Amino acid sequence: MKNQLQNRLDQRMYIPYGRQTITEQDIHAVLDVLQADYLTTGPTIEAFETQFSEYVGSSYAIAVSSGTAALHAAMFAIGIGPGDEVIVPPITFAATANAVVYQGATPVFADVSSDTLLIDPFKVIKKITPKTKAIIAVDYAGQPCDYLSLRLIAEQNNLFLISDACHALGAEYRGRRTGSLADITVFSFHPVKHITTGEGGMVTTDQKLLAEKMRLFRNHGINSDHRSRQKTGTWHYEMVELGYNYRISDIQCALGISQLRQLPDFLDARRKIARHYDTAFSGETSIQPLSSGSDILHAYHLYVVRIDFSKLKVNRKTIFTILHENGIGTNVHYIPVHLHPFYREKFHTRKGLCPVAEKAYDQILSLPIFSSMTSAEADYCSNTLKEVVESALPDRPGDNEFFESFHHIPLGESHA
Ligand SMILES: Cc1ncc(COP(=O)(O)O)c(C=O)c1O
Repeated sequence: MKNQLQNRLDQRMYIPYGRQTITEQDIHAVLDVLQADYLTTGPTIEAFETQFSEYVGSSYAIAVSSGTAALHAAMFAIGIGPGDEVIVPPITFAATANAVVYQGATPVFADVSSDTLLIDPFKVIKKITPKTKAIIAVDYAGQPCDYLSLRLIAEQNNLFLISDACHALGAEYRGRRTGSLADITVFSFHPVKHITTGEGGMVTTDQKLLAEKMRLFRNHGINSDHRSRQKTGTWHYEMVELGYNYRISDIQCALGISQLRQLPDFLDARRKIARHYDTAFSGETSIQPLSSGSDILHAYHLYVVRIDFSKLKVNRKTIFTILHENGIGTNVHYIPVHLHPFYREKFHTRKGLCPVAEKAYDQILSLPIFSSMTSAEADYCSNTLKEVVESALPDRPGDNEFFESFHHIPLGESHA
């Protein structure tokens, strides 16, 4: 097994759960900026922001150094501070809740819906207290949340609605793109996301005041930048807020602009892979893809299936390992955030707080999906998973035979 895996790694035949697609056009765009005047605080940042806001349909876009910085800037802009509560889902990357903690406030976990793993508006209502200031909706896997209900809840309770769309660039809810559905929307350009800048992020909003606050925040809270001072011929600036260095560079934004041009193709490719998986699992009872709403257009950052491992002869770790050794990189998104030691210790969260998320966590597996993935690779992944799960059903032969059966999967030829 080990040698076969090494072979696949050596021949670049290992299929990761996600990866970037970098084209010649991207490389040229970055080289051009490397030879220009500004590596940072230059015009390429504004150009990326303008093109991004046009794409998502927002009035403002502010580029920052990561999705995490974007979340932090959003919390700052809406004035989150000590004593405040912000409602977040447990099925997300830890950064969503961490941004609340950065501002000295308390994240309050509202459980998800079992079919989509998106924050459940009814659970949100139950978590509202006089201290609640905002809701962060996470468009998990690339599917927009129920923004109609969340918007209504936010309006009726005088709360800000923040959208963590780090999984959902290019997704739509009732014909409107993510980035234009909440008071502030947050994106990430980490390499496994729809477009990449290496590391990077963006916040979008229609509110001028929030945009101005986030611009200040990414630059130490200083009210001008190097280039604007150079233009006006002054050295004077004022630091008016406590901000951070959350700037992104022109080099990264050159890559971002070039990637954004290819986004429609990247999205098409991801949706094609998702359709392949949908078809492959349509007759399966043991492998169930997450549901998606009829009023959304999915962006498929992740393709997540649920498997009731408790009904199988082997656990998830074994299946994960077998897939890995057969050249398939799966992942688990996510360990519910409230179960991490930090949150248990500092916020006294515990098992039982979000039962739907906790049950889902025991059953989920993210399969490979990325824009340069081929249909043959998707077939290989779905066929292998089906074969592994089938062999692990209780009425199948014993454990040894189960493992042995996996040496028979053709390595290499089936999906190169
Ligand atoms: C839902 C979600 N929010 C926030 C982030 C943070 O983004 P970044 O890694 O760019 O800081 C991620 C990144 O994986 C994410 O998946």
